Amino acid sequence: MSDKVIIFDTTLRDGEQSPGASMTKDEKVRIARQLERLKVDVIEAGFAASSEGDFQAISAVASAVKDSIVCSLARANDKDITRAADALKAANAKRIHAFLATSPLHMAVKLRMSPEEVLEQAKRSIRFARNLADDIEFSAEDGYRSEMDFLCRVVEAVINEGATTINIPDTVGYATPELYGEFIKTLRTRVPNSDKAVWSVHCHNDLGMAVANSLAGVKIGGARQIECTINGLGERAGNTALEEIVMALRTRKDYFDMVCGIDATQIVPTSKLVSQITGFVVQPNKAVVGANAFAHTSGIHQDGILKNRDTYEIMRAEDVGWSANKIVLGKLSGRNAFKQRLQELGIAIEAEANLNEAFIRFKALADQKSEIFDEDIIAIMSDSAATEEGEFYKFISLSQHSETGEHPKSKVIFRVGDKEASSEAEGNGPVDASLNAIEEIVKSGAEQLLYSVNAITSGTQSQGEVTVRLAKGGRIVNGVGTDPDIIAASAKAYLAALNKLHDPSQAKMNAQMTP
Ligand code: KIV
Ligand code: ZN
Repeated sequence: MSDKVIIFDTTLRDGEQSPGASMTKDEKVRIARQLERLKVDVIEAGFAASSEGDFQAISAVASAVKDSIVCSLARANDKDITRAADALKAANAKRIHAFLATSPLHMAVKLRMSPEEVLEQAKRSIRFARNLADDIEFSAEDGYRSEMDFLCRVVEAVINEGATTINIPDTVGYATPELYGEFIKTLRTRVPNSDKAVWSVHCHNDLGMAVANSLAGVKIGGARQIECTINGLGERAGNTALEEIVMALRTRKDYFDMVCGIDATQIVPTSKLVSQITGFVVQPNKAVVGANAFAHTSGIHQDGILKNRDTYEIMRAEDVGWSANKIVLGKLSGRNAFKQRLQELGIAIEAEANLNEAFIRFKALADQKSEIFDEDIIAIMSDSAATEEGEFYKFISLSQHSETGEHPKSKVIFRVGDKEASSEAEGNGPVDASLNAIEEIVKSGAEQLLYSVNAITSGTQSQGEVTVRLAKGGRIVNGVGTDPDIIAASAKAYLAALNKLHDPSQAKMNAQMTP
């Protein structure tokens, strides 16, 4: 019998620490439901003590999810741990994940604590957490850069206090596969009670080795939990990509001899949902979920594929949930067909009023665009979800004029609270003019860090999906907008980002920062 690897998804926590990727409560619930469909074992829904908004989001995920374990991160102190336990109250199965840095650098500079103080704090926090939950994970932050003897003492002590999972993060992505695998193996060999806990790996991708390091932690080190995120989202260069881990374990089962419980056909829908909600576009050549991951363009390859797919394919596109872009609905499709397609896509509609609102959006889009694909429906539903959450700024309409040799002009009409605002401005291009027009009224003064356009399906009929990243007062937010007209999509994305800046509950404390 092959051993099982536990898949611990931290898209909603570590993934959310990517610049601008912060998610609202409803967005987290939508992703959590999809992660459950993907059959991840553990969903880390957030860091309860980081903000009231995150606390509410974790509570909502805990209520919505039935099968996966729901987890909250907490610093290793009573206050954070109590907050995590409170947020998880409604969960069918819950885990508290306490962390404390153990590397000499982090202890001295960040925590300003001696190793003995850190050891005591770690023990005390796990003892406290065990009164609130049975399933307790301890992470030794910056574990890979910690001194082996000290780390062994900390791990042995927290297992004695009742930690059930021990996670050894490579917080800064410094490890290499063999060295990391050996590091985990040494720890497991030297810690006397190591068999009383599940060992876990958590690798960052600063040197592009997160997936390889995690797999080595399992293969060489004997870890049986991998922490990962959809599309490899995460701090800086990101975290371990779930889709790559799962497909490596499956495709090279001959080598790893491990199984995991993931339903791989849900990988691509999950990747698209996360990308759509966070505004982090997936690079075309990204393994498994990139648009080119299964595209064969050279003549020799196409010829080989036609003769036998195994010549150039080690995985099947359909096994990870790629389906040929199908026209699913159109102008004449009725409400029932729309509702059924939503069900097939696993999109839950709570109230009849929400369905009506989404159907109106669908009809409006079908008037602009004759062929409606699944990706279009996902985008419509994201827009509807944002409306349900109550936007302060809301796009109404836009007109613009551009002509070669002249400065483009744009007029944008949008809602500010319950009033309608209209503004005109010029710019270097039509997008610039439209965003200038919005800024004339809002006067946010936010710095634009990123602007990107992506076609959500193929062909020029596609809707444009625009991401705008803004920074203000130490906060970074992403806004996403979709529309067949990319100028309108840009205005929507800009207003979506302004909505996030406007909402104080979106301000969160980063888990790795000491307050
Ligand atoms: O990278 C890291 O060390 C973390 C811990 C908080 C688990 O994300
Ligand atoms: Zn991390």
